[in-house]
Amino acid sequence: MLPVLAGAGVFASVAQAAPPPGTPAHAPAQNWSFKGPLGHFDLAAVQRGYAVFAGVCASCHSLTQVQFSDLGAMGLTSDQVAALAASWQVAAGRDAEGHLRHRKATPDDMLPRPYADADAARAANRGAVPPDLSRITQVYPGGADRVYALLTGYKPAQTLPLATGPDAAVRRVPARPETGFVNPYAIGHITAMPPPLRDNAVPYADGTQPTAQQEARDVTTFLAWVSIPHADDKRRLGVGVGLYLCFLACLLVILKRRIWSHVTK
Ligand code: HEC
Repeated sequence: MLPVLAGAGVFASVAQAAPPPGTPAHAPAQNWSFKGPLGHFDLAAVQRGYAVFAGVCASCHSLTQVQFSDLGAMGLTSDQVAALAASWQVAAGRDAEGHLRHRKATPDDMLPRPYADADAARAANRGAVPPDLSRITQVYPGGADRVYALLTGYKPAQTLPLATGPDAAVRRVPARPETGFVNPYAIGHITAMPPPLRDNAVPYADGTQPTAQQEARDVTTFLAWVSIPHADDKRRLGVGVGLYLCFLACLLVILKRRIWSHVTK
């Protein structure tokens, strides 16, 4: 066989080979309003997503890069931000007997962490540390699509594929609540995070029906909004700069024609 053909054969077999066991499934692409260079955030969805984060995710996950005042950009007035901050408690040193003290948060505070340190987080979560979510849709391979797929992709334990072949060790991981939960979008298809969402997990102020799917969509939108601060402003500025440069280019063409108008061929 010609070397070229042999090479093609190798490529073909690589392309057809099944991914290693435990590789996270490919997350289906979602139609996010914030996708693409001209996208924008639906602030109503961002606000609902905040409600889901605060009501559900914040008991395990931190958002260390976010200050309460940043949340004003969701479309809140400064009074609303102050009220929102006041619904959280932050650590405020220790009292005379050494007990931790807490106070209501103010807009200048950062969002508090749910656990004092990684050991406390591990002890409460089957040995896994819930990652900080400040940049999760940027750093998580698969981005927002995979966060959404993970949140909505939990499978009942019985659907775990039967252990056969060389990858049996990986697949035989028991899917009991003590060890993890079956989810094709998690590494190894097992995650230590219990299914966080269910229908009506949080009340929605705007009358939207809080189904588990809707909550997953909204909290993913909120996390994407948090991950790229000022995204909409930057896009608007980009469009403005683009239009300005087009205008300038037109002026330069006119100017050039005028300057060279007396030169004939
Ligand atoms: C009961 C605690 C708990 C709650 C509530 C919770 N998580 Fe998690 N989460 C975890 C733990 C623990 C992990 C780490 C899982 C692992 O490493 O197996 C995790 C991991 C994640 C990951 C990364 C997944 C990965 O494959 O590494 C994302 C994204 C995530 N959580 C999002 C959320 C969102 C969004 C919410 C709220 C809707 C939420 N979590 C609620 C405990 C929680």
